[in-house]
Amino acid sequence: MKTLRTAILGPTGYTGYWLIDLLLRHPHAEVSYLASARDELPRIDHEFPALAGRCELTCRPIDAQAIADECDVAFACLPHKTAMTHVAALLAAGVRVVDLSADYRLSDADLYESVYQTPHTDRDNLKHAAYGLPELFADDIRDADLVANPGCYPTAAALGVAPLIERSLIDTADIVINAASGTSGAGRSVKPHLHFCEVNEAFYAYACGEHRHQPEIEQTLSRVKGQPVQALFVPHLLPIDRGILETIYLSPKDSDVSIDDLWEAFVDAYADKPFVRLCRDRMPNVKHVRDTNFCDIAVKLVEQGDVRKVVVFSAEDNLIKGASGQAVQNMNVMFGMDETAGLLT
Ligand SMILES: NC(=O)c1ccc[n+]([C@@H]2O[C@H](COP(=O)([O-])OP(=O)(O)OC[C@H]3O[C@@H](n4cnc5c(N)ncnc54)[C@H](OP(=O)(O)O)[C@@H]3O)[C@@H](O)[C@H]2O)c1
Repeated sequence: MKTLRTAILGPTGYTGYWLIDLLLRHPHAEVSYLASARDELPRIDHEFPALAGRCELTCRPIDAQAIADECDVAFACLPHKTAMTHVAALLAAGVRVVDLSADYRLSDADLYESVYQTPHTDRDNLKHAAYGLPELFADDIRDADLVANPGCYPTAAALGVAPLIERSLIDTADIVINAASGTSGAGRSVKPHLHFCEVNEAFYAYACGEHRHQPEIEQTLSRVKGQPVQALFVPHLLPIDRGILETIYLSPKDSDVSIDDLWEAFVDAYADKPFVRLCRDRMPNVKHVRDTNFCDIAVKLVEQGDVRKVVVFSAEDNLIKGASGQAVQNMNVMFGMDETAGLLT
């Protein structure tokens, strides 16, 4: 099989770093072009000493035509709003793109503008973007020139709830997603509220019911159900480097829904999906998925007096299944490779 030549825009950030790391281990891909907007272009192993001896490329300017000439696929690891200007130029130059930002995730441009408080400047490409959650939408991803890599929280949420909606086992008017993420979810750039002294020994909720990932989660669940679904999403900041755990509270649709029905829905949905691990005899834990592309899922049916609740637990590494690993998984699907290539080593 031909070796894919890859470009990374934003290689000096966390998702960029992990893409480099994963692509260096990929049997059919190589890191060919690292694109940065800095005035002084860094050598990547000087920026990330962990890459010493593995990748010594010096970053080059972001030049869409040069990237298209040299590469088969480009990964945009840039902040939203910045991403869409470069993605449009890359597509016009003729290279396929996996965008890790939020710019192409919401298919409704007006919704994007209200959630992200900025104009969407690339509505044409938005119309053709595939939402890159391979466990649910692999057919769309295969032929796409532009794949919108899902958000980290939305990945764990969608994988945890979609099978139960597909089987009509839960009341879709009552979905509460309680989530916690490590601080790398906010990126590498310095932010005062993420200093060690602010985060260490702290634990708190933020953006309750108004986080930008809530509409993205609702969009996926609505697509699975075929009609609008709303969810309450409550994120928390965990004082760890990386990892997401979501505890999702749901109501069974009917009184005769059993725990066997719930597990059967997950087994059916994910039996042939290599990156979803169903945890029947252990609880999903951020430590068990660290540095991996796995999403670990468990489900419980709690029955106490009048209370009957379905509780789903979903854990992933925000930088791998929630970002760079999923981006490689999408590349594998786009180019007809084994979905797991480079991701199980
Ligand atoms: N972190 C996660 O867990 C995660 C998960 C899923 C999705 N994402 C999304 O993935 C994207 C990248 O996230 P990240 O965590 O890697 O962020 P990050 O660590 O802050 O890195 C951002 C990268 O973008 C570059 N950049 C920033 N502003 C730029 C501009 N105006 N022009 C060109 N390059 C610019 C930075 O370059 P400099 O080094 O020069 O500043 C850096 O390389 C974001 O859209 C984020 O929302 C992140």
